Amino acid sequence: MSAVRCEALTKYYGKTAALAGLDLDVPTGSVFGLLGPNGAGKTTSVKVFSTLTKPSSGYATVNGVDVVENPGGVRSSIGLTGQYAAVEERLTGRENLELMARYFHHKKSDRKVRASELLEMFDLVEAGDRTAKTYSGGMRRRLDIAMSLVDRPSVLFLDEPTTGLDPRSRISMWDFINKLGDVGTTVLLTTQYLEEADQLAEKIAVIDRGIKIAEGTPDELKDQVGGDKVRVSIVKLENIDVAKEAITDLCAGVVEQEPGSPLTLTAPIWTGGGVVPNIIRRLDAAGVDVRDVEVTRPTLDDVFLSLTGHLTNSDESVQDQVA
Ligand SMILES: Nc1ncnc2c1ncn2[C@@H]1O[C@H](COP(=O)(O)OP(=O)(O)OP(=O)(O)O)[C@@H](O)[C@H]1O
Ligand SMILES: [Mg+2]
Repeated sequence: MSAVRCEALTKYYGKTAALAGLDLDVPTGSVFGLLGPNGAGKTTSVKVFSTLTKPSSGYATVNGVDVVENPGGVRSSIGLTGQYAAVEERLTGRENLELMARYFHHKKSDRKVRASELLEMFDLVEAGDRTAKTYSGGMRRRLDIAMSLVDRPSVLFLDEPTTGLDPRSRISMWDFINKLGDVGTTVLLTTQYLEEADQLAEKIAVIDRGIKIAEGTPDELKDQVGGDKVRVSIVKLENIDVAKEAITDLCAGVVEQEPGSPLTLTAPIWTGGGVVPNIIRRLDAAGVDVRDVEVTRPTLDDVFLSLTGHLTNSDESVQDQVA
């Protein structure tokens, strides 16, 4: 059965189509990534699925329950962590969790047990009895997710769980999200980062301007934009042809001199299989001095550029890029 499903879903704010006919099918027990730039409709779709807002047309179900006809039924099986943290700063981490459990009418003894379990799971045991206002951004985000898990939802929505976190906190957050997938919770997570969807999601839907423009496993999406590339920079221009010749069969014969940078060759490669060490060995054997070898993976921008012909689509996102 599908955990989340929608068909021809639209949501208008005045004349703005936040969702313009979205179709999704999220299998139960999977971690599913909804990937898109600012303004793509990620938060809007999460709001519709979690019954915070009604669609303008189309339909959506969570665990087979219609979000418009039976919002209460939907709410009883979901957890939601919004884009902006819902933590009460004046309470400790433990108190935040117990308060949430009380809200779900758990017995007092169960509330304490559940709070301790979740502090443990999200590595907040030491910080558990400090007020949340002393928490770092990453800790706050973890507490926020822990709070949405108090009632053991079968479907969890995470709206940009790592935006604003530093790289280390982001990686630790990925561990926690992976754990949720392991215990069978269906996770629908939104993100602006292909890398994040890549790390976490079994399947990704790319959305732009309120509709799905691509769908597949992370590998399938990357293949659509040409997969990984290797960039080889050499020291002497006179060696460029020898270098090209030396590595051409490792790169399916498609080695190109990078425009504007005559000492650099770029070529598509397939991950794994020790291609990079082979490239270095070949160049060495051919007597080519190598300055640098770098593997570049497609970014969300590459996916977008190739799928839509534009990088971003709203003034807001342009501003974000400039900022
Ligand atoms: N309450 C609202 N009133 C008017 N317009 C809205 C409202 N909520 C969203 N929109 C518009 O709908 C579109 C989709 O917004 P949404 O918040 O779903 O995007 P998003 O993918 O979550 O973006 P971000 O990455 O910036 O969080 C945008 O053009 C946005 O300006
Ligand atoms: Mg959003």
